[in-house]
Amino acid sequence: MKIKTKVLKSILALSMAGVLAACGNNGEADNNENGAGTANNGNINAGDGEVDNTDVEGNNTVNESSNVNENDGEEITITYASGQDTTNATDALVEAFEEQNPNITVEVREMTADTGQSHDQYVTEFSGGDDTIDVFDADVIWPAEFAQAGYALELDRFIEADDINLDDYFEGTVDSGNFDGRMWAMPTYTDAGLLYYRTDIVDSPPETWDELIEMSQELQGEEGTDFGYLMQANQYEGLVVNAIEFFGAYGAEVIDEDQNVTINSPEAVTALEKMIEIVASDFVPGDILNFDEPATENAFINGQAIFARNWPYMQANAQNEEISEVTGNVGFSLLPAGDEGSAAGLGGWMTMINRNSQNVEAAWEFVKFKTGEEGQKISAVEGGRAPTIRALYDDEEVQEAAPLFADEEFVETLENAIPRPVTPIYPQISDIMQIELSRALAGDISAEEAIENMEQEIESALDE
Ligand code: GLC
Repeated sequence: MKIKTKVLKSILALSMAGVLAACGNNGEADNNENGAGTANNGNINAGDGEVDNTDVEGNNTVNESSNVNENDGEEITITYASGQDTTNATDALVEAFEEQNPNITVEVREMTADTGQSHDQYVTEFSGGDDTIDVFDADVIWPAEFAQAGYALELDRFIEADDINLDDYFEGTVDSGNFDGRMWAMPTYTDAGLLYYRTDIVDSPPETWDELIEMSQELQGEEGTDFGYLMQANQYEGLVVNAIEFFGAYGAEVIDEDQNVTINSPEAVTALEKMIEIVASDFVPGDILNFDEPATENAFINGQAIFARNWPYMQANAQNEEISEVTGNVGFSLLPAGDEGSAAGLGGWMTMINRNSQNVEAAWEFVKFKTGEEGQKISAVEGGRAPTIRALYDDEEVQEAAPLFADEEFVETLENAIPRPVTPIYPQISDIMQIELSRALAGDISAEEAIENMEQEIESALDE
């Protein structure tokens, strides 16, 4: 792989430009970015396989039965709710697990590709105490909420008993699973926003958003392209991440470390105005306000755009000759910089256990496998997913399957990506942002108004 490094004034203090072109990669990626969530806050007592049904507040709640399936050879079937998977990564993972655990069968239930929709489905199910799902994929933004709501089983006892060293994982991904001093979710794969570009059209990617705008206007139409830039501007979670990246690039943040709402700043207004300028331009699709990650990927791999913002997994399908028109012509770099530098939003998925699961021990066995080195390697090689275990980036097969993973600067980007606010009321904050951002992007209100509304509404949500 050819990697070009540039000096970018970046809040991430790094720069990255890599080229996927001609990397001979046949890794496949999918668009699955969703997970499942579940509830039930149990303290599991070491050694006895029993769940102490105590919720986060210390109340005695929940069901009796999470006492289960010690390894006594009993045949057990667990249900795993997974993100939508267009690759064979999930099947390969389940197959490898079942081979090693002949007494456990994993039934896969595929959820929708939209994280917000799958979130709501889980909440409906778990809040009713449903125990159908044992294990589920969870977006990094859910663990705090699901822990507090009593949907998730805490995992500390298992982590200790199996001697899992959380220091082997990227710190930010471990933090995503931690709430109230306990672990509720195991890091499974990580995501950070990247700029993909066509190496047959541009020699080097834009370093700033203004350069991206200029280049898009100038080069749109080359090599049969229809668009300069693709992003996620639909009213859903992906829009929040795109906005957080603009905010970060221009030096704004939504909530600071002490949970103060700091969104109302001139920097945030500038950032949102830049976003509006791009969305209103004629180098994005006319229906950009409906664009999500799958729409972005489809258009990009069909050769329709010069630049696109997406997650690392798009590398796999972009390089898959069976479905991509642009194999060999795809480069990637940091997202362009604003006044403060370049900022990547942190995404990714965790794995959790339903607090009401009747198969806790078997569920943990699957979680352990799936989120351990062997499972994450399968997801990286078969599905283009970025591992959360640092050592896997040095694994030859992983590097070969996905050239991005061999790029040190990419790994740094992953480690430095900007998280969304970590709070059990994150869904409310996200809804507020989605609505106000959409109104501003549609031209219904100004950037100032949107920012002021966000400030007021997020403050009152946090006060409740
Ligand atoms: C990806 C990310 C996830 C994010 C979602 C938004 O799936 O991994 O964290 O919430 O995209 O669409």
